[in-house]
Amino acid sequence: MKTALITGITGQDGSFLAEFLIEKGYQVHGTIRRSSVDFRERIAHLEGHPQFHLHYADLGDSMSIMQVVSKVRPDEIYNLAAQSHVQVSFDSPEFTADVDATGVLRILEAVRLCGLADTCRIYQASTSELYGKVEEVPQNERTPFHPYSPYAVAKLYGFWIVKEYREAYGMYCCSGILFNHESERRGETFVTRKITLAAARIAQGKQEKLYLGNLSSLRDWGYAKDYVECMWLILQQPEPEDYVIATGEQHSVREFCLHAFRRAGIELEFVGEGENEKGIDKATGKVLIEVSPDFYRPTDVVNLWGDPTKAREQLGWDPSKKTSFEQLVNLMVDADMAKVAVERAGEQVKMNLEEYLEKGIVK
Ligand code: NAP
Ligand code: GDD
Repeated sequence: MKTALITGITGQDGSFLAEFLIEKGYQVHGTIRRSSVDFRERIAHLEGHPQFHLHYADLGDSMSIMQVVSKVRPDEIYNLAAQSHVQVSFDSPEFTADVDATGVLRILEAVRLCGLADTCRIYQASTSELYGKVEEVPQNERTPFHPYSPYAVAKLYGFWIVKEYREAYGMYCCSGILFNHESERRGETFVTRKITLAAARIAQGKQEKLYLGNLSSLRDWGYAKDYVECMWLILQQPEPEDYVIATGEQHSVREFCLHAFRRAGIELEFVGEGENEKGIDKATGKVLIEVSPDFYRPTDVVNLWGDPTKAREQLGWDPSKKTSFEQLVNLMVDADMAKVAVERAGEQVKMNLEEYLEKGIVK
């Protein structure tokens, strides 16, 4: 039975990867951070499982990483922990650099100092954001990097330090250059989830309008549950190498809105341009989407499109047999429609209870 350590296990990818590795028979250890509120929603269903273990550690704290690595002595480490929001990285650039750049170094050094350099394989969660102000479309493993945010610059350090440790110390460590991947567990401030949640709320009368930034931005969006399999496959190869993981298809934010609202029962049309562009409900003429410059970024990455040929040929991972763009949008909207319906039902129960208490029907 192999032992895996996942940093960032409470995140979208960490939760799917933990499920995947448990299914494969691994002992799964994950790092969590102390917080005054509990953010373990995505992994709550795994707690208590005999193959699932949690430890406190922070990527900004070398000693906590040393402690967990020396205690767990993993066969594989999946370093998914990061300040992962690109827009937030403009507001917290130093924190982002500490976690997303130096944090990777801390993991690599902990493995070396614990004497695990020859036995422990390391996966680094790298990103299509490295291509940034893109120099080629679509992007593959040979496309030059041009990071275009503090997040991407930090992740670029992570990419190069992993390569350096591979070459300098012969360690099995590699980066998955993953393009955007989404799911019903996606954080609510990333654009896809923001849209699916708003579509569900608007369709059920719980929200009036959705404000977005750049509607023309293009992304290669896949399903997170499909992508965690690649993280594992990357660590099962005879030689450590870096891989692009993507669907090979590109869509705009605007297109994502059209599909999501359609799934929620609203047919949209977009009129106007730039900051004046609006998404209008064709049936009622109501403006449901507006552009707000608050969501513009000082530098925005607008043309991501991955070429997954290497992953297809070497890992045997074929995106055409995985979740399609339409299926992804549908499953996210369906999950949010159900979530909003449950919230509404809860509100109704609360209102009824308050009314009964007031009238003295219940005490
Ligand atoms: P996510 O949902 O934001 O999860 C990030 C995880 O990192 C959370 O568990 C978070 O813990 C943890 N974390 C943040 N700061 C930390 C710190 N200082 N010490 C320890 N843990 C810390 O991100 P995701 O979408 O699952 O992405 C996983 C990884 O893949 C990230 O490295 C991201 O940059 C990278 N990536 C993501 C995508 C994508 O499209 N999703 C694409 C390419 C690369 P808390 O829950 O305590 O905040
Ligand atoms: N978040 C957000 N909110 N983005 C918006 C909005 C909005 O209201 N309106 C338009 N966008 C645009 C952004 O400007 C960006 O061009 C695009 O939608 C996608 O933004 P996000 O969903 O925030 O994701 P991201 O591409 O910046 O970053 C994600 O993918 C990277 C891989 O390419 C994150 O998961 C990163 O951690 C990951 O590395």
